[in-house]
Amino acid sequence: MPSLIPVTVSIWPISVSAGRLESLHTILDSAERSRIEKMRTDSARELIVSHGVARERLGALCGIPPEAVVFRTEARGKPHLEGISAPVAFNLSHSGGYCALATGAVARLGVDIEALRPAIDDLATNVFSERELGLYAAIVPGDRTRAFFRSWVAKEAYLKATGDGLAGGLQSLETEPTADVAIRPIGIGGDAGVLRSWRFEGFDVSEGIVGAVAVDAGGAAIDIRIRRIDPELPARADP
Ligand SMILES: CC(C)(COP(=O)(O)OP(=O)(O)OC[C@H]1O[C@@H](n2cnc3c(N)ncnc32)[C@H](O)[C@@H]1OP(=O)(O)O)[C@@H](O)C(=O)NCCC(=O)NCCS
Repeated sequence: MPSLIPVTVSIWPISVSAGRLESLHTILDSAERSRIEKMRTDSARELIVSHGVARERLGALCGIPPEAVVFRTEARGKPHLEGISAPVAFNLSHSGGYCALATGAVARLGVDIEALRPAIDDLATNVFSERELGLYAAIVPGDRTRAFFRSWVAKEAYLKATGDGLAGGLQSLETEPTADVAIRPIGIGGDAGVLRSWRFEGFDVSEGIVGAVAVDAGGAAIDIRIRRIDPELPARADP
């Protein structure tokens, strides 16, 4: 039987001790440092902790020190690793004081987390297709915010996996909006058959933050693990 390809989503809070923040800052490269110089304190902290911990985990996976990890970006901003022999795909998201890093030896990988915000009915008309809007309208009002963001993170995770980002169009992946954690994809670009190659998994970061991971493993069997990590501790070399 072919073995399952592991895909891991690691989740951690931005909040770390002053000493840890300083040591994570030392492993960033000059491009990351110059981004930080132009940021407000809270955004700078978010970038240091998200990129610092991501560097540690990616370095551990590739068997190199965190400061030796080299990021290159595609035309629409999707970062990938350069100069490594291991087939490691990754994607990063941060929102509401948390980070999520998806890693795995797959063709395409995207992750998105979002803090729930109220008053999204107007936004829904821009985000959902006609079919999704019909399903969304049938959801009880008290569940709509969560249902909206569950769909939103699935759509963004897909657009981040392809690397197109928002330019790829939020209506390209259609899902059945639901307040449940399980993602129910309907089709991509109106085609349900394309979904065979993809896996989508929803998860909760906290009561007020939802997330999703999208994986194109070419139809291969994958094992998606969602786990919480302590950002104070350096990464172990695990899958
Ligand atoms: C990518 C995008 C969907 C991010 O959405 P978001 O919810 O605001 O942000 P998230 O926290 O989930 O993700 C940000 C991370 O995604 C990654 N990322 C950036 N662009 C990406 C893309 N096109 N595809 C996949 N991942 C991307 C980066 O790691 C980024 O982290 P960083 O800013 O700390 O370096 C959105 O910003 C977008 O569409 N950007 C593309 C803009 C574009 O087309 N630019 C043209 C190039 S000039």
